[in-house]
Amino acid sequence: MNIEVVCADITYLEVDAIVNAANTSLLGGGGVDGAIHRAAGPRLLAECRTLGGCPTGEARITGGYDLPARFVIHTVGPVWRGGHKNEEALLASCYRNSLELAAASGVSSIAFPFISTGVYRFPIARASRIALREVAAFLATHPEMHVTIACFSDQDRATYSQALHVLTN
Ligand code: APR
Repeated sequence: MNIEVVCADITYLEVDAIVNAANTSLLGGGGVDGAIHRAAGPRLLAECRTLGGCPTGEARITGGYDLPARFVIHTVGPVWRGGHKNEEALLASCYRNSLELAAASGVSSIAFPFISTGVYRFPIARASRIALREVAAFLATHPEMHVTIACFSDQDRATYSQALHVLTN
């Protein structure tokens, strides 16, 4: 299956598109959002301003500007509120909508951060299972897409790799 789990700063990855864990304003923030805007430069924010925001669970695409990636796909993950506010379904739709938007935009390689598991406090083990389930379902009908999961810590990579092992065995 075309899934690779790496420990990397997503802003350095030479893929067609990197996914940003944004907020509904799409006007930047901390975490990976801040890192992507810093690396892409001010033209990214200028384009984001034209988009009028993005609802949780949906995705929007922009240019990559000063990034190695041609595109940035901005998606807004759910804030974890205990698991009874549709958080799992919203996180799943972040991955599904980002992948569908990537395929519709001619993207053949995409890298995801660990959406919602930082500031938004989504439990990491649950998030990795949801992410890999959605990516695997998409790859079943789009085998040409290459997906990289860019973890920012060895612990996150271990969690993802364990979930990937369970999924593929
Ligand atoms: N490369 C890859 N992963 C990164 C990077 C980076 N440069 N920087 C942070 N991460 C990881 C974090 O370690 C975490 O695993 O991205 C994951 C997502 O964490 P956040 O960036 O905090 O995103 P999220 O939890 O979805 O919260 C989104 O935070 O930054 C604000 O504007 C953003 O309001 C939004 C909220």
